[in-house]
Amino acid sequence: MQTQLPIVPNFPLQALNTFGIAACARAYLKVSSVDQLRAVLADPGLAALPRLLLGGGSNIVLTGDVDALVLHMGIEGRSVLGQQGEHTLVRCGGGENWHHFVQWTLAQGLGGLENMALIPGTVGASPIQNIGAYGTEVKDVFHSLSACDLRTGDMRTMDAAACRFAYRDSVFKHPEGAHLAIVDVTFALPTAWQPNLRYGELAQAVADAGLSSPNAQQISDLVVAIRQRKLPDPAVIGNAGSFFKNPVVSAEQCARLLAAFPGLVHHAQADGSEKLAAGWLIDQCGWKGKSLGAAGVYPKQALVLVNNGGASGADVLALARAIQADVLARYGVTLDTEPVFI
Ligand code: FAD
Ligand code: EPU
Repeated sequence: MQTQLPIVPNFPLQALNTFGIAACARAYLKVSSVDQLRAVLADPGLAALPRLLLGGGSNIVLTGDVDALVLHMGIEGRSVLGQQGEHTLVRCGGGENWHHFVQWTLAQGLGGLENMALIPGTVGASPIQNIGAYGTEVKDVFHSLSACDLRTGDMRTMDAAACRFAYRDSVFKHPEGAHLAIVDVTFALPTAWQPNLRYGELAQAVADAGLSSPNAQQISDLVVAIRQRKLPDPAVIGNAGSFFKNPVVSAEQCARLLAAFPGLVHHAQADGSEKLAAGWLIDQCGWKGKSLGAAGVYPKQALVLVNNGGASGADVLALARAIQADVLARYGVTLDTEPVFI
């Protein structure tokens, strides 16, 4: 039986990317089931058309029109699967909004995701760059995911090892995983929940609120407040969150930099390397609040590039390149970009 696919030609994408960049897709489909994905693969008329998976559009930079069929992942559903050892397993459809899912787990009395409250985007994209904030990453609470192979239509289940999670990275950002559409994600949340207050700014916020034993909802509320204070709301100012990853350097390079720049913000990693605060490096180069054409550096957080209005992908890239060049010249440190360029 042929599934009728409601594909829309020449679809505007400005409202579907949080940078607010104007661009048009050759074709667009809101995907609400695996059957629809499979129908796309089985349709000979669509075989020659490249495909682009899209979630909330909060970690992409559109560099031009998209000559592809945009598969906008909208698969829904949330369920508590039950206990497994020390954890409760919860599963969520890839098209669900991440923050709404976090709030839903908290309403079920399940902690574990609260430090990652208010990260924009979908649940299906959360493993792509192993999202993280305020001391927790997806890999810390991940159980498994289901993905549809867009070459064959086959479904596969992947555990954390198969996902190859790293800081802002996973197999899905590499050619070996780029053909996989994440359909749902299962999380393992600790039954005996304990707050994770390793991130200094969050611990300080808990102390300032006078909470000696905060619950998970209270921590989520504090994270939301911190984020609203520091980061621009994409509904008001176009942006994609941190534009660069925090660079990881050797302990020796960090020591050399500290000798020359004693204020350098750095955090020791478990393997002995040091993560530098890219926001500090950019800030010190004088970029905070500055603009180049229609793209700018957010005045409250130098790691966030913003759309001042009408910015194109080229405007954003030109600003990013200028910042990278300055940071490299001053500190000898290469800044890698975080969002996906399309
Ligand atoms: P999209 O931007 O739509 O897509 C990102 C990539 O994933 C693309 O390559 C796309 O093809 C692919 N993709 C999307 N859905 C699927 C799927 N179902 N299957 C396979 N591939 C898929 N990130 C953090 O880690 N921590 C933060 O604290 C954080 N803060 C942010 C704050 C702001 C204000 C903004 C705008 C962004 C922030 N981000 C942060 C980045 C962003 O929210 C995350 O990367 C998020 O996971 C992106 O989800 P999305 O659904 O919007 O993905
Ligand atoms: N800093 C400055 N000037 C600035 C910005 C930052 O000096 O303009 C310094 C401050 O000293 C601050 C330090 O940099 O202490 C770190 O800043 P912040 O705590 O804001 O965190 P970040 O390193 O800029 C990272 C993530 C965020 C995540 C927060 C909280 C990356 C690339 N970014 O930001 O993730 O929300 O920590 O955990 O790892 C994202 O990935 O899009 C994102 C927003």
